Amino acid sequence: MKIVIDTAKIVEVGPRDGLQNEKVTIPTQAKIDYITALGDAGLRVIEAGAFVSPKWVPQMADSAEVYRNIPKDPGVEYPVLVPNEKGLDRALDAGVTSIAIFTAASETFNKRNINMSIDESFTNYAPVAARARAEGIRVRGYVSTAFGCPYEGDVAPEKVLEVVARLLDLGCYEVSVGDTIGVGTPMQVQGVIGVLLQVVPTSRLAMHFHDTYGQALANLYAGMEEGARVIDSAAGGLGGCPYAPGATGNVATEEVVYMLEGMGIATGVDMPKLVSATNEISKLIARSPVSRVATAINSKRRAEKR
Ligand code: HMG
Ligand code: MG
Repeated sequence: MKIVIDTAKIVEVGPRDGLQNEKVTIPTQAKIDYITALGDAGLRVIEAGAFVSPKWVPQMADSAEVYRNIPKDPGVEYPVLVPNEKGLDRALDAGVTSIAIFTAASETFNKRNINMSIDESFTNYAPVAARARAEGIRVRGYVSTAFGCPYEGDVAPEKVLEVVARLLDLGCYEVSVGDTIGVGTPMQVQGVIGVLLQVVPTSRLAMHFHDTYGQALANLYAGMEEGARVIDSAAGGLGGCPYAPGATGNVATEEVVYMLEGMGIATGVDMPKLVSATNEISKLIARSPVSRVATAINSKRRAEKR
């Protein structure tokens, strides 16, 4: 039987994943303006930063200042990454109401990214999640390298399921499975998502696909056919993880919006405003947006001006 795909939720990760690997220091006010512009464009969940060690990810060093100064839209959720209790302390101090904890399905990547084994990460996150939830803070989870590891290669779907289940046990309202290095392909995605959805409710599973090999949009569609409905994306297709060599940007939000709207799924996102937000941040990092949709819309705008 053909599955009817009629809903989807977008989680915008541009201000965090999109910027974390950029070498040029982006001014704090520009990050605030970017997050504000994304909210104005209609995005309802916007990852606003990361309370990680500034020694490990210097670009996110000003996340507290960014967070404090975003003009908060009551209809928007602004999660931030938190790697440990120190990060939680800083997040609580900044008034954060939603956090994301992050681990991986492969040991080597986890060690490189957070300097912990998978088991150690759960020992580390148990008090983080418990304290956050006691404070009424929503906790999201990430499982990196769910479709392949830059150090170990193939990753078993059963391992992904085990880590997802452990994050749900910590009380995560949603767990996002990441193709950190963008190596997955559609049939593989259907296999992994299919295994996960036998156990995990549809509403609690998100897909986080980097587009290194140009498969992200096809992979998302494949995941949606299996039943997944939550999509992480980054405006302009920005992104990358400093500890995932060879990984490029996330699937671009404008490409996801274009595809979903074409499928008759209302996203509530204003495409011209989204592309304008993308153009502004692209100027700061001195690169044109990589997405085909932004390129097409920008060419059209230039042609109309002539
Ligand atoms: P460590 O070096 O093992 O820990 O790092 P430590 O406790 O020894 O701390 C080292 C220093 O950092 C100390 O400072 C700490 O105080 C400080 P010093 O004493 O040397 O002056 N520190 C902190 N400072 C501020 N905030 C904190 C914090 N914690 C320690 N929270 C640690 C361990 C987890 C901290 C480190 O490895 C880290 O921050 N890792 C984060 C890496 C990261 O952000 N990666 C990118 C995000 S994940 C991602 O992109 C994947 C995702 O998009 C999904 C996907 O695509 O798959 C989510
Ligand atoms: Mg990522």
